[in-house]
Amino acid sequence: MRAQPVGFRGLKRWCTLRRVRARPSRGGMVAVTPTQFKRALRLWASGVSIVTTRRAGGIQGITVSSFASLSLKPPLILVCIEKRARSHDAIASQGCFAVNVLGAGQEELSERAAGRRGARGSWLTGVPHRTAVTGAPVLEAAVAWLDCRLTAAHPGGDHSIFVGRVQAAGSYGGPPLVWHDRGYTRLAR
Ligand SMILES: Cc1cc2nc3c(=O)[nH]c(=O)nc-3n(C[C@H](O)[C@H](O)[C@H](O)COP(=O)(O)O)c2cc1C
Repeated sequence: MRAQPVGFRGLKRWCTLRRVRARPSRGGMVAVTPTQFKRALRLWASGVSIVTTRRAGGIQGITVSSFASLSLKPPLILVCIEKRARSHDAIASQGCFAVNVLGAGQEELSERAAGRRGARGSWLTGVPHRTAVTGAPVLEAAVAWLDCRLTAAHPGGDHSIFVGRVQAAGSYGGPPLVWHDRGYTRLAR
């Protein structure tokens, strides 16, 4: 057997202990495991928003952390929505949506729009909202909102990347709700 370079065994053991093993996939590429993927991503802190749109006979909303600013000229933003979420097809067919940025203390609203609390599908009952330009519901409780027309939908694995052109926006200020390590937290200043 060929001698291994000095330190190889130690490196292999370190990788095992730190759970950085990769497993080979078809085609010789190295794939990350779902556990490695989730463990790394849960340390990414983000804000929390509720993306709303209209649907036949009512309104639809989903809790979303994958929201990002994309362009200033023209004003574009993006959200990533799981294909099997009910909001996915509603946004695609309505061609508009609003991003409602949640503030500190709005955990319950977030949980309801994520389908983790209350009756699924009726979470907006009793939540004050209005419309701006596109007709997508803008939540009165949001610390900031952006009313968007859908301008592109790109494939992104089991999600779609929806690009919205901002038609109107508002902000009221206040500390944001933060999502980190699978739980809600707040900014400490
Ligand atoms: C904090 C938080 C962030 C989330 N971010 C996203 C997201 O960015 N995209 C997504 O598709 N689902 C996200 N989800 C999951 C959806 O909110 C959840 O699957 C929801 O039930 C889908 O609702 P619907 O099927 O009624 O549309 C998130 C959930 C939580 C609690």
